[in-house]
Amino acid sequence: MQTCHGCTLYKHATQAVFGEGSAHAKIVLIGEVPGDQEDLAGKPFVGPSGQLLDEALGAGAIPRTEVYVTNAVKHFKFTQRGKRRIHDKPDRYEIAACKPWLESELELLDPAIVVLLGATAAQSLLGSAFRVTKERGHVLDTPLAKWTFATVHPASVLRAPDDEMRRIAREEFIADFELVGDYFKKL
Ligand code: URA
Repeated sequence: MQTCHGCTLYKHATQAVFGEGSAHAKIVLIGEVPGDQEDLAGKPFVGPSGQLLDEALGAGAIPRTEVYVTNAVKHFKFTQRGKRRIHDKPDRYEIAACKPWLESELELLDPAIVVLLGATAAQSLLGSAFRVTKERGHVLDTPLAKWTFATVHPASVLRAPDDEMRRIAREEFIADFELVGDYFKKL
């Protein structure tokens, strides 16, 4: 992975951030792309989005030991503004270039549950017509796993425009993970 030149993102990122978790994990969570902190740490979801994710896993009574966390794209994409590195969305070429890595992770892990966090992960694996807002809140039947779920990206919860909208977005995100937890208990 560290020698991957499948797209140009490797040129500016610190390192590739591969997935992390047990090889026997029953649940795979798939985000978009590593952020600033993940790029520096070399681990997925260690920043603010990761904290919210941990909270949601707790609400669903899903132990971290049962979870493998990864991203649709493995190199940080950003625009430099002064000292700050501002996250950019990966484009469809970058998503397609990284897809073999993601597919290999899923093939090796063969999880019972896949949770797609946001449109990038969902559209990478289920096609560009997939709409997270329409498909969240219920179990999906896909070739990815026995049970697939889609929800919004945790960063979108944190970026909600005001306190009230943030509170609602957080509640909905937690409810999505409670549903995942209900299915996890059935395994
Ligand atoms: N957002 C993501 O999609 N992935 C991470 O690893 C961190 C933030």
